[in-house]
Amino acid sequence: MSAARRHTVPPERWPTADEAARSRLFAPLELASGLLLADRTWVPAMVPWRATDEGLVTPHVLDWYRRFAEGQPGVLVVEATGIRDVPSGPLLRIGHDRFLPGLAQLVDTVRAASGGRTRLLIQIIDFLSIRRRPDPQRFLREFLELTPHLREALSGLHPALDVRDDAVVRDALCSFREDELARVLSPRELESLRMGHRERVTDLHLPHVRDLPARLPGLFADAAARAVRAGFDGVELHAAHAYTLASFLSPLNDRADGYGGSLAGRQRLPLEVLAAVRASVGPRFTVGVRFLGEEGIAGGGTLADAQAHAVAFTRAGADVLSVSRGGKFEDARQPKVGEAAYPYTGASGALCMPTVFDEQTPFGRNLPLAAGVRAAVRAAGLRTPVVASGGLNAFSLAEAALQRGDCDLVGAARQSLADPDWFLKLRQGRGAAIARCLYTNYCEALDQRHREVTCQLWDRIRLPGETPTLSADGHRRLVAPRGAWTPPRREGTQLDSGSPPSSASQE
Ligand SMILES: Cc1cc2nc3c(=O)[nH]c(=O)nc-3n(C[C@H](O)[C@H](O)[C@H](O)COP(=O)(O)O)c2cc1C
Ligand code: SF4
Repeated sequence: MSAARRHTVPPERWPTADEAARSRLFAPLELASGLLLADRTWVPAMVPWRATDEGLVTPHVLDWYRRFAEGQPGVLVVEATGIRDVPSGPLLRIGHDRFLPGLAQLVDTVRAASGGRTRLLIQIIDFLSIRRRPDPQRFLREFLELTPHLREALSGLHPALDVRDDAVVRDALCSFREDELARVLSPRELESLRMGHRERVTDLHLPHVRDLPARLPGLFADAAARAVRAGFDGVELHAAHAYTLASFLSPLNDRADGYGGSLAGRQRLPLEVLAAVRASVGPRFTVGVRFLGEEGIAGGGTLADAQAHAVAFTRAGADVLSVSRGGKFEDARQPKVGEAAYPYTGASGALCMPTVFDEQTPFGRNLPLAAGVRAAVRAAGLRTPVVASGGLNAFSLAEAALQRGDCDLVGAARQSLADPDWFLKLRQGRGAAIARCLYTNYCEALDQRHREVTCQLWDRIRLPGETPTLSADGHRRLVAPRGAWTPPRREGTQLDSGSPPSSASQE
């Protein structure tokens, strides 16, 4: 059964072309780097699962970004792109020069499709490893390390067992119920069993984690230098959600090596990364930072932390700040055996990609955080523009946020996926033709299953005379139709329920 919708997309009085031309939304903005944005419209990063398994740009990647560029947003941010030269599935990578030709082609494609209007940033990311949830028996038989602590706990529970004998220990563990396991395994071992093993930035016993401060500034700086060579207008450092830089910023980071604990300690590595990136790209290349206005988890960062981070990033030379929210592993739902945890499934995930099923309305949900961040930056005497996102789907909402000073730029991810022409339609006074996002997260469910991301409003549409490229499952078109098209009414159907079609969910 699908969850109940608590909210409906409110009707909108769309602006005329004249009203749009006079609006703040469509007023230009110059960044400190000298980059001139044609207007305040922004398409935040969205992973579409279109790269090769080696992380290379494919024709489908080009089609995806071409389609957004045709709607001529002021800024388009390319999906989270890995800075390391290690396999990471069909996610884009920028960790070696061999990725450059494809990325340069991506830049050319966006320039041509937007008539040179859209500025193109690439989001660069580092993440730690996370394993799939293991089969419990295999975990207990093969993966679990038999530590002295575990043997001791087991002997306390079953004094008759010969806990020096590995086979005896593993046989006993395999026969245990969940509650018995909970009494002998450490919280971390239990987590690995229930969720899949996940590395943390606080795992200082792991040399590659301990060495992150030595490695990351160089890796980010090299990636940014490649972004310059590929022709991008800028990079966005991914310091949001569940990934490495965000984890350093978090109050949960209690590293005792000077890169955790106090606010200054937690900010230290992200600031060293920013400094290294700036040194490698120079003052005229745009460097943005995306970070969390609030982590939304127990013990996680609050708006007060975000305000301090924002001022620190700005003083360190960030040209633009993009405020997101939540999206953490700490409260992710338990994955099925053989699947990996996904950081957008828990309460913090609902903050990141709010839906109409949530108690609170998704529309403009995260504006107070952007407003708080911007106020702190302005109070520090700094002018750095702030991007808001989260349920921004209407001209009136966007314009009011800009007029109030909640933000300087309006980010719309899912609304832009639902209708990549929506900003253009607004600007041209054709708002009534916009296909409006339903905020039921069918697209996010596809992302979760690592399947090509599409939108339920258009992936089954076939216009007369066209043969669209389809997803690997053979059912879903990969980009929105062009020209006039009307989303089908899907009230109450499976497609409207927030789940991808069954064909999309088969592995
Ligand atoms: C399919 C999908 C993929 C996403 N991938 C990224 C990403 O690569 N990097 C990122 O910072 N945010 C990512 N996000 C989050 C969005 O950028 C945005 O913050 C979020 O969807 C809320 O904005 P919205 O309400 O306008 O959709 C993704 C969202 C979706 C729906
Ligand atoms: S799939 Fe649903 S939530 Fe995602 S963009 Fe389309 S309408 Fe919006």
